[in-house]
Amino acid sequence: MNDEARSLQREFFRIDEDVIDRVQHLKSRLMKYAETALETVFDHLIGNPDVAHYFEITDNITYLRAGMLAHCDELFSARFDEHYYEATEGMGERHAKLEFPAHVYTAAYSNMFARIVELAMADRRSFKTDDITALSRITHYDIELSMGAFYRHIMDKRAALSSDAQKIRHLVD
Ligand code: HEM
Repeated sequence: MNDEARSLQREFFRIDEDVIDRVQHLKSRLMKYAETALETVFDHLIGNPDVAHYFEITDNITYLRAGMLAHCDELFSARFDEHYYEATEGMGERHAKLEFPAHVYTAAYSNMFARIVELAMADRRSFKTDDITALSRITHYDIELSMGAFYRHIMDKRAALSSDAQKIRHLVD
């Protein structure tokens, strides 16, 4: 997708200058909440039989915590530049190569978002409605990009496997 198409996409998600300024101003607070919120997300994942085995290993959590926080930093910087798109789509592709079901990722986003909002509202200087709207817009856009890349990777892999199967059909028929 070229820059113009991406810009139109952001416009459709209503990510405008106000949203970008707002998120950039809130970035240090958002990062603080994200660090705390991550622990709730890990607790939730450990309780899910589809993924628990991965989270029982401490080193995996350490590695993932760093990756997820680095992504939060990327998202809350709200630059929407080439680096951001590569990182976000690359993350979706990495996830697509694992054996976990798609909903663990969307649920992690949902839990992370809910916990960040809870923390922001309970803080001394609580978030305003526009702050939450801005956070919601960029988060939904991030989900669209990463999960879009996730499904694209799976579809491309299926198409490649099916094309290989066609090529060797005469050998097995
Ligand atoms: C808010 C949701 C999530 C975000 C932002 C996120 C972010 C990332 C990022 C940035 C990486 C790449 C790390 C790197 O290259 O160093 C990654 C890798 C990974 N993520 Fe996630 N993740 C999310 C949810 C999950 C969930 C729910 C799981 C549960 C199973 C998961 C499992 C993994 C694993 C196993 C890798 C390593 C893949 C590999 O090494 O090939 N992620 N994630």
